Amino acid sequence: MTSSSLSSRFGRLLILPDPDAATAAAARLIAQTIRNDARAVLGLATGRTMEGVYARLAAMHRDEALSFSGVTTFNLDEYVGLSASDPNSYHHYMRTHLFDPVDADPARVHLPDGAAADPGAECAAYERAIRAAGGIALQLLGIGDTGHIGFNEPPSAFDTRTRVVELDEATRRQNAPMFGGDPEAVPREAITMGVGTILESKRLLLLATGPAKAAILAAALEGPVTPEVSASAIRLHPDVTVVLDTDAAAALSPAFKARATVAD
Ligand code: F6R
Repeated sequence: MTSSSLSSRFGRLLILPDPDAATAAAARLIAQTIRNDARAVLGLATGRTMEGVYARLAAMHRDEALSFSGVTTFNLDEYVGLSASDPNSYHHYMRTHLFDPVDADPARVHLPDGAAADPGAECAAYERAIRAAGGIALQLLGIGDTGHIGFNEPPSAFDTRTRVVELDEATRRQNAPMFGGDPEAVPREAITMGVGTILESKRLLLLATGPAKAAILAAALEGPVTPEVSASAIRLHPDVTVVLDTDAAAALSPAFKARATVAD
């Protein structure tokens, strides 16, 4: 399959003028999913890009009565060795940015337990929980400097499942600002949904903003579909929406942008 025939499969590519507009568009798509199905199962991501999305969703809860009380959520990943109460954990991030500001039901929110005594059993249980919930309707994704989605560092086979991974040095540098600036303070391992787990979601929504994402995004969307760039796997999915700001879209070819923008 050529890269152009794969590209043409995109449902939608939205390119917005700035990060604010891009995060607002992503938040609207998530809100729409909840309004269509109050018991929707959402896959969520963390990281700096998503902070604006969650701020918008919290505002919609406050101002527009968007309710999360029936929504089930599964986060992509968590650092190994961090307990849910650790301020650097993704459990803490999600409570701070979304779960506490909205009316999320604690019984319906799920993140891998980074402090599990048996991480292998934890990963298998996470997969079972996603299946028991009926699968993920909409999975939110960011993209890392290594091209990872979740923490699927290269190479990650496209059939990988939830598992313990070793974080790439580039990822530890990327996330060092959240750990006082020291890459060595960033945990060496994480539990992440696999690429195969992610691809089973009914719909994917990838959001990227800022110039630092431009090169890896172009590789993911226009380069080879390869386990060396995990995010390229989204091109194998039949229902993908990619939301970018102009800076993140800067390295995409004009032909790709034109075709993808008018699709759907
Ligand atoms: C986090 C996750 C990662 C991030 C990616 C981008 O749950 O799944 O793939 O989405 O590392 O992070 P930011 O947004 O901080 O650049």
